[in-house]
Amino acid sequence: MEKQHHEAVVSRNWKCVIRVWLVLVLPALFSLGRSAPYKQVAPIVTMEQLLWVSGRVIGEVDTFRIPIITYTPRGHLIAFSEARKHSASDLGAKFIASRRSQDGGYTWTPTSFIVDDGSADDGLNLGSVVVDNETGGIFIVYTLCAHYIRCSVSSLMITNSSDDGLTWSPPRNLSHEIGTKMFAPGPGYGIQKMYAPNKGRLIVCGHGTLDEDGVFCLLSDDHGSNWRKGGSLQGLPFNQKKRLGDFSPDECQPYELPDGTVVVNARNQYFYHCHCRIVVYSTDGCDSLPLENVRFDEGLPDPAVAAGALYKGGVVYFTNPANLNHRVNLTLRWSLNSGISWEQESIQIWPGPSGYSSLTTLSNNVEDNENIFVVYEKGREDITESIALVKINLYGLL
Ligand SMILES: *[C@@H]1O[C@H](CO)[C@@H](O)[C@H](O)[C@H]1NC(C)=O
Ligand SMILES: *[C@@H]1O[C@H](CO)[C@@H](O)[C@H](O)[C@H]1NC(C)=O
Ligand SMILES: *[C@@H]1O[C@H](CO)[C@@H](O)[C@H](O)[C@H]1NC(C)=O
Ligand SMILES: *[C@@H]1O[C@H](CO)[C@@H](O)[C@H](O)[C@H]1NC(C)=O
Repeated sequence: MEKQHHEAVVSRNWKCVIRVWLVLVLPALFSLGRSAPYKQVAPIVTMEQLLWVSGRVIGEVDTFRIPIITYTPRGHLIAFSEARKHSASDLGAKFIASRRSQDGGYTWTPTSFIVDDGSADDGLNLGSVVVDNETGGIFIVYTLCAHYIRCSVSSLMITNSSDDGLTWSPPRNLSHEIGTKMFAPGPGYGIQKMYAPNKGRLIVCGHGTLDEDGVFCLLSDDHGSNWRKGGSLQGLPFNQKKRLGDFSPDECQPYELPDGTVVVNARNQYFYHCHCRIVVYSTDGCDSLPLENVRFDEGLPDPAVAAGALYKGGVVYFTNPANLNHRVNLTLRWSLNSGISWEQESIQIWPGPSGYSSLTTLSNNVEDNENIFVVYEKGREDITESIALVKINLYGLL
């Protein structure tokens, strides 16, 4: 009796194991197979040049910071930065600077100053750039008065281009729709959902003030005409002065996986849990950023900085100054399992001072285009000296 019972349990356990395989493991292996890279990733830097140099040599701009790069609807590249008119400070008057390339990053137009905040004390801060492939629109979302220095109302502004980034609309004040609570998008690119749920949705993620910090996303389901607040992941203690060790997800970069999950990779401002990245997953197109979907990625050591992330052809790429405490050692890493773990190899792009970075590619399809592009803050003594562009062939060593 006893034995029979035991056997029944064993056979039920086996059935259970088989069912787990059929339901969970096989489909997972199948989908891994489908999204696996088409050959071994072996990146090599094939070109580097400086897009902007600080020190009042370009349009008398004191300092260029906060680089962003994106593909354009017509398959070109466009790079942006904050042109800080009088000092290296986050505060003060600025332009948004841009340069375009129509030959895969080899040559670039001269700098255009596409937005000017005049002589503001707490001028504009970049920002997020998002491309709507379906309409061919490009949007830049940026903040005015992000620090409340000699200004009391923070505004979120948006400008758009319908001609591939050549001309830009007069800025529109999004705070009329979403309120005046400070929201600092990016810095980096926003995404358009390629897969269900919410295919076609535009998503711009960013953060709030240091007290009211946390990651927030803005969503548009009508190609950028109307925007509303989506999910948020609030810092703790919320709306109180924080100290080292508190939970404060900050500047962030979203990207989408082929199963429709949006991954938001965020700066861990006060080093909660680790000197590493905070990652949060949204399975509802950023309507929510659930606390139970938060992970601390110890495979991505980080000194608290804005980093670059990109999904392309079955592989996630990530750039940051890979150092626990200092902004040095700009490094490219890659993951073959959607960012669960990172490959042992990495490439060092610059050993010296390096800060914010941003990534893009001209096609998500590796068969069409094997390159990715990185823009990053680069210097010999200080990260504010210049903004460099690097072209990387992902299979260059083969
Ligand atoms: C933007 O709109 C908000 C809310 O209506 C307003 O308080 C703010 O002054 C506006 N900002 C600018 C720059 O016009
Ligand atoms: C984008 O800009 C153009 C003008 O260049 C304008 O006609 C259009 O309505 C804008 N689109 C959106 C969604 O704001
Ligand atoms: C630079 O990054 C690499 C890869 O993570 C690491 O092995 C190395 O120790 C880092 N060097 C510095 C100085 O941070
Ligand atoms: C938009 O176009 C780019 C470049 O052709 C492509 O790589 C990307 O997959 C497209 N994205 C969406 C959301 O359709």
